[in-house]
Amino acid sequence: MNAILGIDVGASGIKGALVDVHNGRLQGERFRVPTPHPSTPEAMGGAFAEIVEFFNYKGPIGCGFPAIVKHGVAQSAANIDESWIGTNAEQVFGQHTGCPVFVTNDADAAGMAEMRYGVGKGEEGVVMLITIGTGLGTALFYKGMMIPNTELGHLLWPHGKSAEAYASSGARERLKISRKEWAERFNGYLLHLERLFSPDLFILGGGESKFFEQYKSQLHTQARVIPAKLLNNAGIIGAAVYAAEQTS
Ligand code: BGC
Repeated sequence: MNAILGIDVGASGIKGALVDVHNGRLQGERFRVPTPHPSTPEAMGGAFAEIVEFFNYKGPIGCGFPAIVKHGVAQSAANIDESWIGTNAEQVFGQHTGCPVFVTNDADAAGMAEMRYGVGKGEEGVVMLITIGTGLGTALFYKGMMIPNTELGHLLWPHGKSAEAYASSGARERLKISRKEWAERFNGYLLHLERLFSPDLFILGGGESKFFEQYKSQLHTQARVIPAKLLNNAGIIGAAVYAAEQTS
């Protein structure tokens, strides 16, 4: 099968596109629906199904989901409704669409796409991808192998509070701070991660990666820092790749 539907479920929007899993390219347009609030499994299942209907798609679906996901079950809910905790997301989306759905963490999906088709291709060392959006998502690789569900956005830094509440774009918007001030915070976060993991490369993804040129001079890690090549499509592409791997 060439084209698989990849869906990236986020705290503000749910985006999908058909992905050619042999080259990691989108086939045609993306379609987005706003994330319902409250973002309960029932409401999100309906929004998810709208995307599948838009593409008139039948077949395996890959999904990146903004939570710890183990064997299809959500184990956390930082930016979605708490009723997701303990809910089998694969079953919920499967029941709403009639298709087999394979769910993985959204940052892990984006990381997989960047390592396979983006700027991480051929990187053998320790690579950390960070998605910067409403939340802070992370994906960690060594020699191309991923350790899933790293959740380093929830490191208790600084001052024993979650890093996400301090250095995500969600925090920048909520606290109404300038991008310059945000970048100082984010640089502190990268330095903290560097002390813990000694990565060779940081890849920045998510919405904030589009503005990389504006703040790159404020980032002072020893590791290289580069923006994700697939930008905001990495989550969709990685989700489709994940589904292809589960079905092959
Ligand atoms: C969640 C992660 C997710 C990240 C980005 C965090 O709040 O805990 O699972 O990857 O947001 O969506």
